[in-house]
Amino acid sequence: MRISTLARHPLAIAGAVVATASAAVFITLVIAMLAGMLNNPYAGLVVFIAIPAVFAIGLLLIPAGMSLERRKLLRNPSAVSEWPVVDFRRAEVRRATLLIAGLTAVNLIIILLAGYGGLHAMETPSFCGQACHAPMHPQFQAWQGAMHSGVPCVGCHIGEGAAALVHAKLSGVRQLMMVAVSTYPKPISPGAKMPPGAQAELCRACHRPGRVVADRVRVLREYADDEANTETMTALQMHMSVTTSSAHAIHWHADPAVRVEYVATDAERQTIPYVRVTDAKGQVKEFIAPDTKEEAIRGAERRTMDCVDCHNTVGHPISPTPEQAVDRAIAAATVSRELPFVRRESVRLVKESYPTQEEGVRAIEEGLRNFYRARAGSVDPQVVTRTVGAVQDVYRRNVFPAMKVTWGSYPDNKGHMTSNGCFRCHDDSHEAKDGSKISGDCEYCHKQLAAQP
Ligand code: HEC
Ligand code: HEC
Ligand code: HEC
Ligand code: HEC
Ligand code: HEC
Repeated sequence: MRISTLARHPLAIAGAVVATASAAVFITLVIAMLAGMLNNPYAGLVVFIAIPAVFAIGLLLIPAGMSLERRKLLRNPSAVSEWPVVDFRRAEVRRATLLIAGLTAVNLIIILLAGYGGLHAMETPSFCGQACHAPMHPQFQAWQGAMHSGVPCVGCHIGEGAAALVHAKLSGVRQLMMVAVSTYPKPISPGAKMPPGAQAELCRACHRPGRVVADRVRVLREYADDEANTETMTALQMHMSVTTSSAHAIHWHADPAVRVEYVATDAERQTIPYVRVTDAKGQVKEFIAPDTKEEAIRGAERRTMDCVDCHNTVGHPISPTPEQAVDRAIAAATVSRELPFVRRESVRLVKESYPTQEEGVRAIEEGLRNFYRARAGSVDPQVVTRTVGAVQDVYRRNVFPAMKVTWGSYPDNKGHMTSNGCFRCHDDSHEAKDGSKISGDCEYCHKQLAAQP
């Protein structure tokens, strides 16, 4: 029985056609990609996952067809019942062997390219944020406008090393399935989305928080709901490191020589009844919140505090309150303070709930235009137009009705004004056996420098 005879089965022929065609398409698309002609976020999915899958199916059909053909021939009494004899003395067999070897090499190259390209495509922010469009849209949108837009999603969300990569790919496959059947939570809950234990290393690749050798002055500007949008300025001297002005350092928690562990009773880690400190000398101290039951602590997962326990919004800051978002836009002069009542009107409009983002964006334009049409003489229409765009931006970057993400969906743990943040522990009530407490003293972390009425 000859190989060419077996390969005559229609299934084997179909397989060969499918494999050859998809290989040709694959090579063409890879060339197009290299030439920069394919920038669509779905392209990576199609080129490196869908087409190679079709190619592999084609390849598998060939032996499947051949084996079916062999069985058919075996049932047919006139057929020869042996496997083909490979006789290298015959030129035809040598040619066929060379051909098969050559094709196998080409196939291997395609599979390797596809594997490499597939991994790579899945690591781009456009894959995370757009191919996986609906669930990751809020984070993608917020990330684009953030300090870390130069750091790809995987720069923070995948740890170092092969184990972390495999872990990430496996949970990635699970997440893709959730997307396919739409069972992902809305909104995607905060917390536990970073590779365990690896955060500090990831951040330390670029930052050395212990090296900050000066306090940092933070100027916060807030605006009133009056006609003049009156500004209030607060300047806080943040005690970042031990200096002559303070014996305390905010980045003490991130000092590799100390270890702060804690137990949280909720998945978002907002309620923390137990904190355990191992200081640089190895001395251990436990702080427990009042009315905490033993069972709540025993057996619960203990987390070691690291950068993202405070900096949980660094990747994609979604503002916890409309007031804060609008105030920042006014301070940045994108929303014009010249316009009477602009603070009050902007907050009112972005706070409103709308069925879709598009409707929200439209309602904001309508609302602001109507409000200032009544004062047409005293306002510059160009300023109104610019402000409309800026307020729409504030809304678009923070509210995502499709994912049920809105003001307050994601807490900011770096301060204590919009969510408990530092006060989860620093509330003057978590107590140690010796009676000392985790301080909530206002001058423990910062000193107010100036205030305007
Ligand atoms: C600079 C680091 C960084 C980058 C870059 C980054 N993230 Fe995050 N991401 C975080 C941190 C920190 C958290 C919160 C983890 C926690 O609370 O334990 C988080 C949480 C999330 C969550 C859970 C919901 C939430 O908002 O808390 C999603 C979803 C997410 N990130 C998606 C993305 C996507 C998509 C990108 C790229 C477009 C991205 N991230 C880029 C650091 C980052
Ligand atoms: C690839 C490098 C890189 C990685 C990784 C990275 N960052 Fe950054 N980070 C930057 C750059 C660049 C800036 C912007 C600095 C600037 O413009 O002042 C920045 C800014 C910041 C700021 C804001 C400083 C400010 O002025 O408010 C914080 C906080 C921060 N990073 C924390 C983190 C944390 C926490 C992580 C780990 C989850 C992290 N970064 C990971 C590069 C990185
Ligand atoms: C206890 C909470 C906490 C922890 C843990 C923490 N930080 Fe910070 N970090 C802060 C606060 C608060 C600020 C000041 C923010 C401000 O200016 O309002 C800050 C500021 C920063 C800045 C900006 C500093 C500057 O002067 O411009 C960077 C960068 C930063 N942190 C990185 C890190 C990294 C990396 C880690 C982990 C190794 C880390 N932080 C751990 C609370 C923390
Ligand atoms: C998980 C609990 C926890 C959280 C959250 C937390 N801290 Fe702490 N912090 C501690 C403990 C415990 C100590 C040590 C208290 C002691 O020994 O008296 C401490 C000590 C400090 C110190 C003094 C360090 C030194 O040099 O002596 C500062 C400053 C501080 N924290 C600021 C902050 C700020 C700012 C935040 C929020 C961004 C914050 N902490 C969030 C638990 C926490
Ligand atoms: C454990 C440390 C800590 C303690 C204690 C603390 N703060 Fe703060 N506070 C912070 C940090 C960190 C920020 C900066 C948040 C940010 O960068 O957005 C802040 C910000 C503020 C702001 C500006 C908030 C804004 O966004 O407008 C005010 C006002 C303030 N604190 C007042 C107080 C008062 C009053 C007390 C005493 C009841 C106090 N703080 C105690 C850490 C602390």
